[in-house]
Amino acid sequence: MPPYLKLGSVPRKRHIEHRREGGFRGEGIYYEEVITTAGFGRAYSICYHLRPPTRVKKLESAGAAGIELAPEGALRHIHLKTGAIPRKGDVISGRVPLLINADVAMARCRPAQPQTGLYRNAAADEVIFVHRGSGVLHTMLGLLPFKPFDYVVIPRCTTYRIEFTPPTPPSQWGDESGPDLLIIEAANTLEVPRKYLNPDGQLRMGAPYYERDLHGPRELEVIDKEQDTTVLIKDGDRLTRYTLAQHPFDVVGWDGMAYPFTFNADDFEPITGTIHQPPPIHLTFEATGFVLCTFAPRMLDTHPEAVKIPYVHSNIQADEVLYYVRGRFGSRRGVEESSITLHPRGIPHGPHPGTIVASRPVTRTDELAVMVDTVRPLQLTRAAMELDDPQYPYSWME
Ligand SMILES: [Fe+2]
Repeated sequence: MPPYLKLGSVPRKRHIEHRREGGFRGEGIYYEEVITTAGFGRAYSICYHLRPPTRVKKLESAGAAGIELAPEGALRHIHLKTGAIPRKGDVISGRVPLLINADVAMARCRPAQPQTGLYRNAAADEVIFVHRGSGVLHTMLGLLPFKPFDYVVIPRCTTYRIEFTPPTPPSQWGDESGPDLLIIEAANTLEVPRKYLNPDGQLRMGAPYYERDLHGPRELEVIDKEQDTTVLIKDGDRLTRYTLAQHPFDVVGWDGMAYPFTFNADDFEPITGTIHQPPPIHLTFEATGFVLCTFAPRMLDTHPEAVKIPYVHSNIQADEVLYYVRGRFGSRRGVEESSITLHPRGIPHGPHPGTIVASRPVTRTDELAVMVDTVRPLQLTRAAMELDDPQYPYSWME
């Protein structure tokens, strides 16, 4: 997880009184909340509220997320053209789930309107990859600015609201402008890869990124409001609406290592070689059941006889998803920005005809893509099948 961070006012020691004048009910303290991960066994933060965060006035069922899976068709390569998904809803309700298994769910979101209510995912860490748009993630741990090509990593149980900022106001969001997101939900804890950490827990020299590249909240937003505030909570498919007696963003200080953060894909330092390097060099984050990788702009292989694009492979025991973000994708034909390909286990895929020869004079690639490799097979949703390019499995024929 990201390194230790401290914002605002915290007492000298953990779990002692954080005193204040007056305060809620005249109790003269700020109210401690410990935010833990993996039970109490992994990274945690300790924060201090103006009011106890447990004051629930009302709770009610809010239905279900209702993901509809497509009937299982033949085993084949899939190409989804997701760039023109019609805008709808906000950054929560406008999500279009596409690929899912027990460990990971991937959705695209092209919101049509700003998020007004608060949202909390109680059962999954979220990674919001910002293809287009910039703004601020509002949380009780503070304000986290984000920009294009950021991974916004939001630990489960973070209550949040996303505010997109100009240049494009919501009234002008259209097909080509406005926020455009890829959303990855991790059922298991999302982590900085263990292999990137030295025995002291610091990112190793030579790892593709450094603590300085991970950005946490910069300033607190302390909302002191005794007013009914609703939070939509999602845990798995179930939605529940909670009405709290206060605004939950009332934290005056916190410290620890469990907090939302950003990492920009352009800060990923690619590892290159004289000959082709295998996909694990692109590893960015991992969770039980899948890895998330960044194919960043990089020098291509320098050996005079190198084949500069990936060899054919059959994804033994892995399903491979690529989301194409930016640039020219040297090994692919027919994919475009915002395409998603799924190359499932057991059938070979590799460079498209003509791409090996075309790559010979090329010395670098400007491609940016996000890859998700899963241990368990992925299922497609009905919404995904509406974006399907049925000819894709035959695209390797000359
Ligand atoms: Fe592949």
